[in-house]
Amino acid sequence: MRIEVETTQAMGARIHDFDLHTAADDDFAQIKKHVYAHKIVALKDQQLSSAEFIELGRRLGEIDVYYEPMYHHPEHREIFVSSNVPKDGKQVGVPKTGKFWHADYQFMPRPFGLTLIYPQVIPRENRGTYFIDMGKAYQNLPEELKQAIAGTRAEQSPRRYFKIRPSDVYRPVSELLDEIEQKTPAVKHPTAFVHPVTGETVLYVSEGFTCALEDEQGNRLDEKLVPQLLEATGQLDMTFEHPNIHLQTYEEGDLLIWDNRSLIHRALHTTTPEPTVSHRVTVHDEFPFYEGFGAA
Ligand SMILES: [Fe+2]
Repeated sequence: MRIEVETTQAMGARIHDFDLHTAADDDFAQIKKHVYAHKIVALKDQQLSSAEFIELGRRLGEIDVYYEPMYHHPEHREIFVSSNVPKDGKQVGVPKTGKFWHADYQFMPRPFGLTLIYPQVIPRENRGTYFIDMGKAYQNLPEELKQAIAGTRAEQSPRRYFKIRPSDVYRPVSELLDEIEQKTPAVKHPTAFVHPVTGETVLYVSEGFTCALEDEQGNRLDEKLVPQLLEATGQLDMTFEHPNIHLQTYEEGDLLIWDNRSLIHRALHTTTPEPTVSHRVTVHDEFPFYEGFGAA
């Protein structure tokens, strides 16, 4: 394997000559090390079948199968499919996923550390995903905001961006909201946590999922705090020119692995989308999600 750290952009590294069939355990440890250090790693020139993509995920940790079956690959439930290309006249996976700032599974009790994306059909224009490094964003917060959120917790819920399923047509919205609350009740995570590998403090707040903040006693904090944090970190900038925002592009054969603790991301979609298909596998690594995770 040959590692090339990106020098012209804020984050990322490329790994050349990675071969799943001959890779040793240490190669997988190295890949993870670079993901934590550089936040996004692109494995170059990969030609993996779906079964091999899953195998790559398994070598990195424990695969988390997405909780909503609508997103599953028809033959491999471990793969989440984002696609606007019908297969044999039928929709596969879900189109236009993730068009809002979020960390994957931020609304779940136990989020995972690694997201793997393997683009299958790549649009010619408008390719890529926006990222914000929330460790760096935390560092750059005004001191009074850092103090305002110290020791607080954030409530996370998928309710605002839940995608209705074909079977939800004609259902009352209230019934659907009740179902979301029952299946994925809002969870609380620290507003900022310590990354278990890098020791960075990461601000764990996103436009997509963060609903409210509360203090150590469970009292709701000023509702202006969440929008202030979103504004300060660049999540409300619809020009995407905020210095925190990084556009990660990719080319045929790239397989991206990113640090889902440090990064939030947002899909880049246009109003007239070109064909796009992407496969995703998500993995728990061997570290707790954050320092103190699971402690009472
Ligand atoms: Fe995502």
